[in-house]
Parts: sequence; structure tokens; C-alpha cells
Amino acid sequence: MDADKLNKEYEFTIKIKRYDPQVDKAPYWKDYKVKITASTTLLDTLFKIMEEQDPSISLRYNCRSAVCGSCAMLINGKHGLACKTKPAELGTSVIKVEPLPYLPVIKDLVVNMDPFFEKLRAIKPYMITDEANWPEKEFRQSPANHRAVDQYAGCILCGACYSSCITVWTDKNYLGPAALTQAYRFVIDERDIATKERLKLVDSEDGVYRCHTSFNCVEACPKGIKPTDAIQGLKRKIAVQKIKSLLRIG
Ligand code: SF4
Ligand code: FES
Repeated sequence: MDADKLNKEYEFTIKIKRYDPQVDKAPYWKDYKVKITASTTLLDTLFKIMEEQDPSISLRYNCRSAVCGSCAMLINGKHGLACKTKPAELGTSVIKVEPLPYLPVIKDLVVNMDPFFEKLRAIKPYMITDEANWPEKEFRQSPANHRAVDQYAGCILCGACYSSCITVWTDKNYLGPAALTQAYRFVIDERDIATKERLKLVDSEDGVYRCHTSFNCVEACPKGIKPTDAIQGLKRKIAVQKIKSLLRIG
């Protein structure tokens, strides 16, 4: 593409749902007209608006490259990362930007992620190893196990799946898709020794059995992770563990 095409600017209307609970009675929409190139991300578009028109907009970001999970929001009604989304690729010149649904709004596009991280902490999101048999060098993992774990370890904890889940919306105790996916990620990791303990943590009404497999989480995930597969995997592991206990073989 030549330089002229790269630098050509197009006008967009960015409608941002604004809300400061300390000041406003209710959320309201505010429109901003802005000129950006075809390669400008939504995050950079929001920065441009803040620099040129309204510095009072609040949003959360960090890496600007789709790895930290901070900039998840609702973009034209769909979950996405602002730093990964280009307005020019959305097929419309009017872009609606809202905070993640269900989570309490702190201000504008910034939500309180505490409920999400509380659920994550509940499943012990860290490797539990056999300290009595610590290896001399690194913990070894087979390539096949690495591949199996990797499809879930790529979670960037953005909260999109959690905020899209209708079961999360209706049961505040439900662990939710991200926490359950991370539970499965450690259950299947051959270096982790806490399988039974982990399965016990999710074997409950507020754990795997609350999932209604609506697939909202799969659609919402900006990293292509399938939490429903992980939840089904956990259910299978729990069933196998129960059969083994009955047969007294594990
Ligand atoms: S599973 Fe996907 S949507 Fe859910 S927190 Fe992880 S990266 Fe975000
Ligand atoms: S700023 Fe890190 S994912 Fe967007």
C-alpha cells in the first residue's frame, strides 16, 4: 500500500457510554467525531479523542498489544479488546463503546474487576508441585501436554467471557468461565499434583454444574479460547475421579 493510502483519514463517530457514579444519576451516551486512518486501533482512537477533545474519559489499558487484558470492553455490542480492534474493519462509521456488562462501573469504561479476580483466586490459579521431590533442574513437560495446556494458558484474564455469561449474571456465586478454564488448565498440567483438590473445588452447584453451555464465553473471548471445552473437560475428570474412588483405584 502506498503512503497516501496509509495516511488517508476517515471520519468516525465514536459513541461512548459515559458514567461517573459519583456525579451522574444514570449512564448517558456522548458522541465524538474523529478522523483516523484505516490502521488506527480503537484504543488509539480513544486516546486521540482524549487528547484533542475530552481528557475526562476514563479507560483502562496497559500493553497496547492484546496481552494484558486491560482494555476489554463492549464494541458495537460485542466483547473485544480496544487495542486489537480497528474501527475501519467494523464495517460502519458509527462505533458504540461501552464498559464490560455486569461488572460494576467505576467510571466510563473502567469496571470493578474484583468479583472476577475473587473467583479466579478461589480455584488456586498457580502450579502446585511436589516439593518433596523437587527436580534438580526444571520441571519437565512433554510437548503433547504443553500443547494441551497451551490452548487454555493463553488466557489474558480480560474478563470478557465472565461478563458475557448469562449464568454469571444470574448467580453471583458461580465461578464463571475464566476461573473454571484456569482450573482445567492446572488439572491437565502434568507438572501439577493437586488434581483431586482442584476437582473438589469445582465439583459443586456454583462450579461446573452451573454452566448452561450457552457459548457466550466462546464468542466473547478475544484470544480464541473455548471455556466450554474446559468446563466439559472438568466434568469428565470429576466423573472419572468418582468412578475411581468407588472402585478404590485412585
Ligand atoms: S478465557 Fe478469553 S475471554 Fe475469558 S478471561 Fe481468558 S482471554 Fe478473556
Ligand atoms: S491494552 Fe493490553 S490487552 Fe489491550
